[in-house]
Amino acid sequence: MSQAAVEMLAQIADRAIEERKQLLVALSGGSTPKRLFQILSRSPFAQNLPWEKMHFFWCDERLVPPDHPESNFGQAKEWLFSQVSIPEGNLHRIRGELTPAQAVEEYRRVLESFSDGMQEWPRFDLAYLGLGADGHTASLFPGAITPEEEVFPALAVTADYQGRPAGRVTLTPLAFSSARNLIFLVSGKDKAHAVYQTLHGEKDLEQWPAQRIQPLDGKVTWLLDDQAAS
Ligand code: 6PG
Repeated sequence: MSQAAVEMLAQIADRAIEERKQLLVALSGGSTPKRLFQILSRSPFAQNLPWEKMHFFWCDERLVPPDHPESNFGQAKEWLFSQVSIPEGNLHRIRGELTPAQAVEEYRRVLESFSDGMQEWPRFDLAYLGLGADGHTASLFPGAITPEEEVFPALAVTADYQGRPAGRVTLTPLAFSSARNLIFLVSGKDKAHAVYQTLHGEKDLEQWPAQRIQPLDGKVTWLLDDQAAS
């Protein structure tokens, strides 16, 4: 599953760099992307990908400092970015050490600086998303959709999930809807129900937040292991 996700990235990178001279990718946290990070950090990808033309953003971040074990940026740095030759300036992390309001404001400014002119955020070439057993994706959790979610590309939210840090900043469906490619990476039996409901259940955007992500003309791919697909 992770190998396929990396090979898709390599293809998307070739095309994006040929057409637009850079690749814009948004990463998720949690346990699932670790294997993906490991594969990217090793031969042949570590040597062959054009890291200096690749810019990384985060789909969401927990509000903890970057060296905290629960930091999504910290995890990606440990497993991937500390092992490849990428300019520090290409890593556009959400600053989890700030207050929620400051972290969101600053991230919105970062997003705006990569705007393609059509909207106040970048058109991501690729966003990797996970799925929680409760159906959340990025930090879009089950519950009422706030008006802010429909206006801003990034928001601060609070949500308890498996004892992970509750204060978070997340991209919203608006930001994902303009992405060129979205890849959901989902593994494990505990996700099977959420996968089924998201893809085949009744439309219920409050209960199954991943249903809120409907790209305008981008491509959505679900990469599942056997158990999540069961
Ligand atoms: C986070 C995430 C989150 C994650 C899911 C799945 O910061 O926690 O970005 O949306 O993708 O919770 O997490 P697992 O891969 O650990 O199951």
